[in-house]
Amino acid sequence: MKRTLSVPGLAYGGDYNPEQWPEEVWAEDMRLMREAGVNLVSVGIFSWALLEPSEGVYDFSRLDKVLDLLHDNGIAADLATPTAAPPAWFFRAHPEALPTDRDGRTLSYGSRQTFCPSSPAYREAALRIARAVAERYADHPAVVMWHVHNEYGCHNAACYCDTSAAAFRRWLRARYGDDPAALNDAWGTTFWSQWYYDWEEVLPPRATGAVPNPTHQLDWRRFCSDELLSLCTAERDVLRAAAPSVPATTNFMVMANFEALDYWRWAPELDVVSNDHYLMSTDPESEIDIALSGDVVRSLAGGPWLLMEHSTGAVNWQPVNRAKGPGELRRNALAHVARGADGVAYFQWRAAKAGAEQWHSAMLPHAGTDSRIWQDVVRLGADLKALAEVRGSTGTAEVAVVWDWDARWALELPSQPSGELRFLELVRSWYEPLWRSGVAVDFVRPDADLSAYRLVLAPSLYLVDDAGAANLAAFAEGGGTLAVGFHSGAVDENCHVRLGGYPGAFRDVLGVRSDEPFPLLPGAPVGLSGAVPEGATGTLWSERLRLEGAEAVASYADGPLAGVPAVTRHGYGAGAAWYLATLPDPDTLAAVLDRVRSEAGVEPVRSAPAGVEVVRRRGPEADYLFVIDHTGRGASVPVAADATELLTGKETPGSVTVAPGDVAVVREPRGR
Ligand code: GAL
Repeated sequence: MKRTLSVPGLAYGGDYNPEQWPEEVWAEDMRLMREAGVNLVSVGIFSWALLEPSEGVYDFSRLDKVLDLLHDNGIAADLATPTAAPPAWFFRAHPEALPTDRDGRTLSYGSRQTFCPSSPAYREAALRIARAVAERYADHPAVVMWHVHNEYGCHNAACYCDTSAAAFRRWLRARYGDDPAALNDAWGTTFWSQWYYDWEEVLPPRATGAVPNPTHQLDWRRFCSDELLSLCTAERDVLRAAAPSVPATTNFMVMANFEALDYWRWAPELDVVSNDHYLMSTDPESEIDIALSGDVVRSLAGGPWLLMEHSTGAVNWQPVNRAKGPGELRRNALAHVARGADGVAYFQWRAAKAGAEQWHSAMLPHAGTDSRIWQDVVRLGADLKALAEVRGSTGTAEVAVVWDWDARWALELPSQPSGELRFLELVRSWYEPLWRSGVAVDFVRPDADLSAYRLVLAPSLYLVDDAGAANLAAFAEGGGTLAVGFHSGAVDENCHVRLGGYPGAFRDVLGVRSDEPFPLLPGAPVGLSGAVPEGATGTLWSERLRLEGAEAVASYADGPLAGVPAVTRHGYGAGAAWYLATLPDPDTLAAVLDRVRSEAGVEPVRSAPAGVEVVRRRGPEADYLFVIDHTGRGASVPVAADATELLTGKETPGSVTVAPGDVAVVREPRGR
């Protein structure tokens, strides 16, 4: 059964926590939600303690009223299971369900998400409250979606207690079979006398004297992601049993500071993919982070998705929390829509006056409606209404960037040749020039069907299995253009080094072979010469590379590897494969990727001045061009002769003008 969200047009709203306020406030909430055009709110996310005052005893009186009130006001509910915040009574009865950190410290309750993901008592209690909520509200007319838990793994991605150890062993036995020999082989446990004779000897990678085994750590990360996923699917099944046609979602965190879950495995389990995204105050170009995150989420969803949370202004969990500048709220929200969001929501509706998030921005600030944020929120509601027809349309791209959580986790394990390598930073370095040139990008797994793409980039694919490597090579052989970043293909799915030279799995397709990495020290770049801009440098990595069929595009200009190829191109089958054996400085990387891109025949969505983002969503009858000005100067962009700007409703034949720092959304009818 296809379960889809039934809110008309684009969804707009936020987390609604009326339990934080006396009932007199609720009527004002409804009035202001209507004023802002809110049509969907997430309710009940952290309400467990109020809904179940003691084990098996429920009090739904408040939630009954809230859902009725929402329905009476034409606002739909994304009703949460409150399982991210078990009540104090639960932990007093089940202290064993508290999580233990790597150093063996048991954490206390008193915040949220402080439970052991493998605790049977937690699972039982979570499914009990989920069932109670589901059965009570399955047929409530306000409920259009289930919000399972909240941000799985945000605070408790891993627990190292004995219960988790036993669950980890069960997961390992399912992977390797009952004989520990297969595990010993996969983990390489002859090293440092780590051989396991008995499953009971296998533990989580707790704090120990020296570096734990890499495959042990990698399997642990896989296990932790799967363990939380099993909680999510168990709740989802309870909800589905009660309400078979109501879609279920859980909010992902594809954003800069979270990496614990393999969302390729999660996304297919949910009816609606939704994401939370917050700006990092230290990022001077957070518009690129929004775009990258949106492209990843759209790729996970395979189409439109929902922005479940972002902020109207500052958050409260960074060292210094930057507020948004003029027009930024609008640009941010519509940028997510441009990347495929069919709805935009915030944490949270009304700014809290008490509790840990009292200094977090909200749709309705402490200052009330006489505030810039409120004005922006009301305007955004009108904007989203004007964009109703973009719902269901989605991006189309000729470029795919390979993104793999195993590769991400493995790259960042300790005891690499360089501790400076960060998956997301590498991917972002390659993504930035694509963003600047206005090229549409999807993200894919290494083993994805690549037939829709002309260009595939693998900025960082340290770990790849044989099937993934063969898939990428076949893409080049069949006429595609492939570009691979340094230290890719180095290890297999067990984190075992691929022997015979680097970059292991990609030597053949890239036509190169390296016999030794020469990681670069921070602040000590190496010069590059050849078909690269004057003064080009490389950072992070270099290696002694030999050509075995490829040609050198650029070489090291100085240092111990002077004269050795640093960027190479290999004609392979009907296509070509490029290797970047260092991280070129941004201008050089942009120049190299420009060349790769034009060789692949990939064009920007629309030609636009630098700093003006143009993104396309394609629907059955029209294309929608989102034009976002990040220059602060405004711009004009060519559009079709029969185009209409949807936010103003005006026809814009031939070109659209976007005001400084503003956004335009243009409908271009298709099939002309
Ligand atoms: C999210 C969380 C919300 C709120 C928000 C603050 O991680 O889901 O409940 O805490 O962060 O930015």
